[in-house]
Amino acid sequence: MSRIAPMKTVFSGIQPSGSVHLGNILGALINWKRMQKDYSCYYCIVDLHSLTTFPDKELLQQDKIDTIKSLVAVGIDPNKSIVYFQSDLPHHAELSWILSNFCQIGELQRMTQYKDKSESFGTHAGLFTYPVLMAADILIHKADEVPVGDDQTQHLELTRDIATRFNQKYQEIFPIPSRNSTKTGARVMSLRHPEAKMSKSSDDIAGTIYITDDDEEIIKKLKTSVTDSGSKISYDKENKPGISNLLEILASITSRSVEQTLNEVSGMQYGDFKMHVSDELISFLSPIREVYLGLTDKKILQISKEGSEKAKITADETLVEVKNCLGI
Ligand code: TRP
Repeated sequence: MSRIAPMKTVFSGIQPSGSVHLGNILGALINWKRMQKDYSCYYCIVDLHSLTTFPDKELLQQDKIDTIKSLVAVGIDPNKSIVYFQSDLPHHAELSWILSNFCQIGELQRMTQYKDKSESFGTHAGLFTYPVLMAADILIHKADEVPVGDDQTQHLELTRDIATRFNQKYQEIFPIPSRNSTKTGARVMSLRHPEAKMSKSSDDIAGTIYITDDDEEIIKKLKTSVTDSGSKISYDKENKPGISNLLEILASITSRSVEQTLNEVSGMQYGDFKMHVSDELISFLSPIREVYLGLTDKKILQISKEGSEKAKITADETLVEVKNCLGI
């Protein structure tokens, strides 16, 4: 009789640093949703990581809640996946301390995100050891796979090195996590500055579509999105970054390839094409927005409480095992 193999574990984290936007949804969350059927998933709101950039207290509290709302609205089902706040489990910080002994200062100095972020936030130790906490997030639940964007692959590589060193020095307890690359999400660019990633930064509101934007706002943002010179719709990221971005967005929300999408729209004028993209975006986003707006803060706190209770079970097990290995 064949036995069913246990599901592999997926872990990913998202910072609660503001409204979720189309870039997050198409780049990551849609993928998180898909993975629920094949994996045992942990989705963590990494509020300890966000302290490295000194967020405002009240904003942070609301952003944490709104981030879980976004996850649920996109289709992450708290009955299937474990959704929780990182700071509700002390296990992350405790394992991080332990793992810091398996990581070299030189390795942390080479992290490109540290170099970038320290220009804005200073060279404090939190920012410096950020990747070790991230390793602890992943290893505390013994994750097999981690869906992350390109900007996080260096951190994941370090996690693998840390896990390997621990396993070699003590005992093989950690699986070596790999990047989940099932159809990596679309890289959505700003509608106003298509050479830069769509982001939550407040100076590019017009270039970013938020989960809370109503239909009119979506239409307005599409209308004012930059197109490129010429009038022919073609996929050419270098010379037509604006149009190419809209093509990618359209392909992603209609679950088609860029080639297929291009075939369907190639004869359109820029103006009609933008209207078409905004219609499709409205059909895609309005049901998500409706769920989002219907979720109360109270409901979210209940989801996170149940999530952290479930997450605590595996985190406890791992920490006991780690401490046994170390003799503490
Ligand atoms: N550093 C990740 C980011 O900024 C967030 C994160 C924290 C994370 N811990 C994680 C992602 C663990 C994956 C796994 O996007």
